[in-house]
Amino acid sequence: MLLESLGFDTPVIHFLDATASKVAGDATLKRTFLELADAWVAGSIPDAPPGTESEITALIAVAGYPKMLAAHRARELPDSISVATARDLQRWITRPESAGGKWEFRHLRWLGSHVHHMLLEIGRLQFIALPFGSPYRVFHAKSSIQKTMVFAEAGLECSRDGWLEKSVDGFITSYVSTPEELRGHAVDPTSGQISRETVSLSASDYDLCLSRESIALHVHIPSGQPLALSDCADSFRRAGNIYRRHFPELDWRAFGSTSWLLDRELWQCLPPNSNIQSFGNLFFPLATPGNNSDQLMERVLEGTPDWRTLTPKTSLQKAVLKHLHEGHRFRTTSGFILRTSESESALNAQLRH
Ligand SMILES: CC(C)(COP(=O)(O)OP(=O)(O)OC[C@H]1O[C@@H](n2cnc3c(N)ncnc32)[C@H](O)[C@@H]1OP(=O)(O)O)[C@@H](O)C(=O)NCCC(=O)NCCS
Repeated sequence: MLLESLGFDTPVIHFLDATASKVAGDATLKRTFLELADAWVAGSIPDAPPGTESEITALIAVAGYPKMLAAHRARELPDSISVATARDLQRWITRPESAGGKWEFRHLRWLGSHVHHMLLEIGRLQFIALPFGSPYRVFHAKSSIQKTMVFAEAGLECSRDGWLEKSVDGFITSYVSTPEELRGHAVDPTSGQISRETVSLSASDYDLCLSRESIALHVHIPSGQPLALSDCADSFRRAGNIYRRHFPELDWRAFGSTSWLLDRELWQCLPPNSNIQSFGNLFFPLATPGNNSDQLMERVLEGTPDWRTLTPKTSLQKAVLKHLHEGHRFRTTSGFILRTSESESALNAQLRH
């Protein structure tokens, strides 16, 4: 009934109904389910015993839905957002072998964002309000041509070309902030790399607007539709309005994201004006701790253990493999869009195109 009212697809409802009947008819499975569902609703991410995992974890996720929907109602969020958010579960329940295969769901941790941390799907994108978390300090110039200036925090180990990784010929960042001076390693706005040299600025010319602890609206990009720029701009605009109206106490400072989609290296493999590049261009890029290509391997190269053995099926796979064979590297990249009147007008301008 609940899933029908949320517009779940009939085959998924049948799968969950069948699982619920199976659990109800097996005393041991029922006890296990009730224990795990209690822990889930109380806020933890329980591990299902081996063997029962994909059978009951989707049902456990749904057991958290009344709590999630009550939290949405308490914030007076529009029903359309609750429905879209709840339906994300369907993207993660899979049934391989063109509908004849076994139902699988192994993403309870991800659904924890929805049930426990108020992730919201607003139009094309999903948002979750959390500390920004990246080791940078972002300044906005009071009046200057270079409006945004980003310094790395002190003590970060960087490679010689400014990525966040250890290397024998790398460097460690320093950062000094006094009432007169800001001095540190600036971030290149075209790539996210951290400069080896330090730069000094007059502190009175800049306002600190974002740091690791600031609240940001972290952006997630669901699969299933093209990443059209106009849809994204609309989603950012609507999210801004929703958080302003329904979470007025949240002093959020920026939209943030960490994704393979923000990697400037990837752009060399994409057609001009691709959706991915246009989306990535909205963000100021930042080198990411960890600095690896795991996400790209999973999302583009099908999680293959060895890319050298993969036969490419799509133009992007072909271009990415060629780039790897040429010795280039990909890196998951973080980024932000500041919450300023200028960024809002830039997003509105995207909507007018
Ligand atoms: C994000 C996403 C919607 C972008 O798709 P899009 O709007 O088609 O992107 P673009 O138009 O920029 O794509 C350019 C080219 O790359 C291809 N492409 C895009 N994403 C691809 C992917 N994940 N795997 C393989 N090829 C991909 C497109 O088909 C297109 O190829 P073409 O020129 O031969 O038609 C898509 O990659 C996706 O669904 N990814 C899964 C979700 C995800 O990765 N989220 C982010 C997690 S951090």
